Amino acid sequence: MTRLLVTGGAGFIGSNFVHHVVENTDHEVTVLDKLTYAGNPASLADLPSNRVRLVVGDIADAELVDELFGQVDQVVHYAAESHNDNSLHDPRPFLDTNIVGTYTLLEAARRHGTRFHHISTDEVYGDLELDDPQRFTESTPYNPSSPYSSTKAGSDLLVRAWVRSFGVQATISNCSNNYGPYQHVEKFIPRQITNVIRGIRPKLYGAGENVRDWIHADDHSSAVLTVLEKGEIGQTYLIGAEGEKNNREVIELILSLMGQSPDAYDHVTDRAGHDLRYAIDATRLRTELGWKPAFQDFEAGLAATIHWYTQNEEWWAPAKAGVEAFYAAKGQ
Ligand code: NAD
Ligand code: DAU
Repeated sequence: MTRLLVTGGAGFIGSNFVHHVVENTDHEVTVLDKLTYAGNPASLADLPSNRVRLVVGDIADAELVDELFGQVDQVVHYAAESHNDNSLHDPRPFLDTNIVGTYTLLEAARRHGTRFHHISTDEVYGDLELDDPQRFTESTPYNPSSPYSSTKAGSDLLVRAWVRSFGVQATISNCSNNYGPYQHVEKFIPRQITNVIRGIRPKLYGAGENVRDWIHADDHSSAVLTVLEKGEIGQTYLIGAEGEKNNREVIELILSLMGQSPDAYDHVTDRAGHDLRYAIDATRLRTELGWKPAFQDFEAGLAATIHWYTQNEEWWAPAKAGVEAFYAAKGQ
């Protein structure tokens, strides 16, 4: 039995990971989460209390972090400010959590000799042209575009430096866009699903040609467990599931699956500095560690996600009006 500390475990991907761990291992999980606007204890509510406990606190609180590292065997670090649009509005919390928070955890990992896995994003590599035959690999140069992705890039570089300079036992994974249950309604897919449920027309930034490489959150979780178990210390692994789709296709599919006309959406003001395309080559993870995704059918995964939001309105309803007011003020 392994004792895991999961930072950001009350957020979207972190809570999916905690569910995955409870279902597929005998590990015990401590979640450290600040419960910002993006953290929701309800995402963990149905999990057994003898396997999962929630500690509410900040990853930049060195004293608390030190105490928790003393109680666990391994750490998986999901906590972050995660939304590009928020980072364009107010970058400061992104520096505090993504940079200073990660630094605080790395210092504790160094003191305690704890195995540490850092969760990151494909956005650190910048974007690709639509017709570029190359996809991102572990050796693609860093070229982040937004305050969010630049702070994630900075956090990755801190991890690499702490491995090399101090011998911290860390790995990094950079994943593409996740979808699935428990994702905040500020994000693209849940925003459009909950708009349709509320009778609001979905909102597409610009022309909608931007491509994202979609992966189900449960496949992200199985990949992270694989890296934790079999990954080589100091190594980076890209996580993706061959899921490239442009935003227009996704919005039209959501509308069709929800019984609406596929053109019943609005084009709104584009995101500043909007990355055009992300695409992951996950060959290292597949060939060296033997991982493969379980969700191969995006339409089926999206239909299941729509079903989840339809059935769990009490989970997302409290955030919906505030998110739409934030976007409306920006013409989005
Ligand atoms: P999220 O915004 O849904 O959740 C973030 C969680 O971190 C929340 O529960 C929040 O309360 C917590 N948190 C924020 N600041 C904190 C702090 N200072 N101390 C403790 N807890 C804090 O984010 P997400 O989409 O689940 O992303 C999780 C991680 O995965 C992030 O590191 C993100 O960069 C990465 N990632 C996300 C995606 C994606 O598609 N969403 C893809 C690749 C990588
Ligand atoms: O690639 C991984 C990244 O994916 C993660 O690192 C981030 O944490 C995560 O938020 C996500 O970033 P994106 O910016 O790609 O996700 P978002 O859901 O904000 O937007 C997805 C695409 O949809 C993007 O091209 C912008 C567009 N969009 C978004 C919203 C909210 C719209 O067209 N309309 C919208 O209403």
